[in-house]
Amino acid sequence: MEKIVVKGGNKLSGSVNISAAKNSVLPIIAASILSGGKCVIKNAPMLEDVFVINEVLKTVSADINIDKENNRIIIDTSKLSYGEPSGELVRKMRASFLVMGPMIARFGRFKISLPGGCNIGTRPIDLHLKGFTALGADVSIGHGYVEASTRKLIGNKIYLDFPSVGATENIMMAAVLAEGETIIENAAAEPEIEDLARFLNAMGAEITGAGTDTIKITGVKNLKGTTHKPIYDRIEAGTFMVAAAITKSKIRICGVNEEHLKPIIAKLTEMGVSLEIEGDSIIVDGSRELRPVDIKTMPYPGFPTDMQAQMMSLLCTVKGTGVITETIFENRFMHAQELKRMGANIKIDGRTAVIEGVERLSGSEVKATDLRAGAALILAGLSAEGITEIGDLYHIDRGYVNIENKFKGLGADIERINY
Ligand code: EPU
Repeated sequence: MEKIVVKGGNKLSGSVNISAAKNSVLPIIAASILSGGKCVIKNAPMLEDVFVINEVLKTVSADINIDKENNRIIIDTSKLSYGEPSGELVRKMRASFLVMGPMIARFGRFKISLPGGCNIGTRPIDLHLKGFTALGADVSIGHGYVEASTRKLIGNKIYLDFPSVGATENIMMAAVLAEGETIIENAAAEPEIEDLARFLNAMGAEITGAGTDTIKITGVKNLKGTTHKPIYDRIEAGTFMVAAAITKSKIRICGVNEEHLKPIIAKLTEMGVSLEIEGDSIIVDGSRELRPVDIKTMPYPGFPTDMQAQMMSLLCTVKGTGVITETIFENRFMHAQELKRMGANIKIDGRTAVIEGVERLSGSEVKATDLRAGAALILAGLSAEGITEIGDLYHIDRGYVNIENKFKGLGADIERINY
């Protein structure tokens, strides 16, 4: 087993490079099923979740070459044949479900295990299925599996009750090969959706409006392979921005898009962190006295739920009272319990957390309860007095490339050890 050991108190300095966005790359790999050719993903993040989705694609005979040295993934789907990933593989990662849209579009049918809940909430898939049904698929659920079949997908107008990221992506991928026009209303507008549309359009799809709440897809007959460089990971960048703030340090974060970071920049600025954009870098200076803030997670361009845990760690160290309201997931405060082990003063009432800053957190043994919770505990450990040991690292490895080495490069006292 492995754990990350952080000795708190070091100031950070220097610069860190941000990897490509996991949540862009996962749907993009799923979308390569639609190409029937060769897709090359440049600057791909070498992460557990990325390896899992590649395994899912192998079950439908995609030929995949992962070039770890050059961060490149080459996916050839010219010899694709119908297949069904094992339930075990699908339940490893919810994003496996993103192959459903492309598979229905390519084969007119697909059967896949229901993804099930996870640590942060129940996470139903009703909106994905509503979309497939609207496009003309017969969808049924039974024995833990969901099955869809259709003679032909036909474009339609689909209103999402909630702007779900995954449902928007899945429906968009199913609709690109459908007959006629599909309009997704109240669509998710996350930058990762825009990136997926960019990838699909480079393959020959006709999508407009991605990145807004109304996406229009005009079906085409077929798509071709392409080469794509995904966007930078805004959540990884945000995590390092909080790292500078929580350690009262000044660092440069290379590989950012200011537009994508707006809600995070706004909150950190409100707290008193100084942020300066220079091309595709951001210089973050957290050396001033910070003020607490209130945060409400919202669909993009609101404050991202994937940055909520990290901000909670920061608020734990800032004098005064901050309030966090989590509106996206119903159970995404598990890190609070771990932060309390480090001496944090947090009160949870339903979807609201009230955080009273303490003088200093104290290093403790804690567990990553999900990906972002793990990142939040590393951040807390960086500022805490003494040693913090973080276990259950598999959560962190799903979504952060080389996290301890990136922090070490900034001067943190951090090690991954086997025990
Ligand atoms: N929802 C439904 N029905 C659906 C789909 C979603 O009720 O059919 C609900 C969910 O239960 C949840 C809310 O809608 O309460 C938001 O879910 P959404 O579908 O938007 O999220 P997702 O596609 O499952 C992606 C990211 C998450 C990120 C969320 C929100 C990927 C692979 N995952 O999940 O990333 O938190 O969007 O921005 O893109 C992470 O990276 O740590 C992570 C959890």
